[in-house]
Amino acid sequence: MYDDSRPERPAPPTRPERPHRTAAVIPAAGRGVRLGPGAPKALRALGGTPMLIHAVRAMARSRAVSLVVVVAPSDGAAEVKNLLDEHALPDRTDILVVPGGDTRQESVRAGLDALPEDVTSVLIHDAARPLVPVDTVDAVVEAVREGAPAVVPALPLADTVKEVEPAGRPGAPEPVVATPERSRLRAVQTPQGFDRATLVRAHETIAVNGEGATDDAGMVEKLGVTVMVVPGHEEAFKVTRPLDLVLAEAVLARRRATDVY
Ligand code: CTP
Ligand code: MG
Repeated sequence: MYDDSRPERPAPPTRPERPHRTAAVIPAAGRGVRLGPGAPKALRALGGTPMLIHAVRAMARSRAVSLVVVVAPSDGAAEVKNLLDEHALPDRTDILVVPGGDTRQESVRAGLDALPEDVTSVLIHDAARPLVPVDTVDAVVEAVREGAPAVVPALPLADTVKEVEPAGRPGAPEPVVATPERSRLRAVQTPQGFDRATLVRAHETIAVNGEGATDDAGMVEKLGVTVMVVPGHEEAFKVTRPLDLVLAEAVLARRRATDVY
């Protein structure tokens, strides 16, 4: 009971703040068809280290991230656990491994389902973006902690973009429908950051057909929630096609030469 005979007692906080706990979910269950034949993309080596390990380290490098959930290929969870045991990660970072699904959306959902209750905000980061700098991760976390329910890092486009009427046959000419003004366009990267409850609500209520959502923020937009863009980084590019591996190796070589992350 409140005792007003002790006036020195501090007033109870008017707006009790829930402590922030940020986790990163790394969807890594894709096959990497566009990279060509070989092991699942996340397990292929870059500079001698699997892409997934680079991606986990990139998240763990942020002091804000205390848990990383890796969503492994559905038949590869044991192999992923072994890899994580073999490679050094900061002690302060907890790691969980869960099996993924047939689409990226299902894989992200599996990662969200594994989050402990005390996690308040979540980063979703593609294993296929192994070289994202920690400053980009921190910028996303900070914007979420300041109250934005959804934050994406993005860059202006170099190429002009055309909207076409797809021909349906590879290589066939396609009529242009529109040319959006390039200065208003941004190419979106990861990690994308979310208030956990908002992203879970999006996954529970938004149905996406076909391949599923390739972009978590797009699902949150469909809830009518405003998504904010913060500056991305050119080293946060996605390894998709063979030429991207050449670029990733070059970025790693440059880092080794200059000792900069
Ligand atoms: N991903 C996933 N589960 C899936 C499909 C994709 O966890 N069923 C992950 C990938 O492992 C990757 C990220 O989502 O880290 C982005 O997907 P993408 O770059 O398309 O990778 P893949 O699907 O592996 O590549 P591809 O589309 O060429 O097969
Ligand atoms: Mg894919």
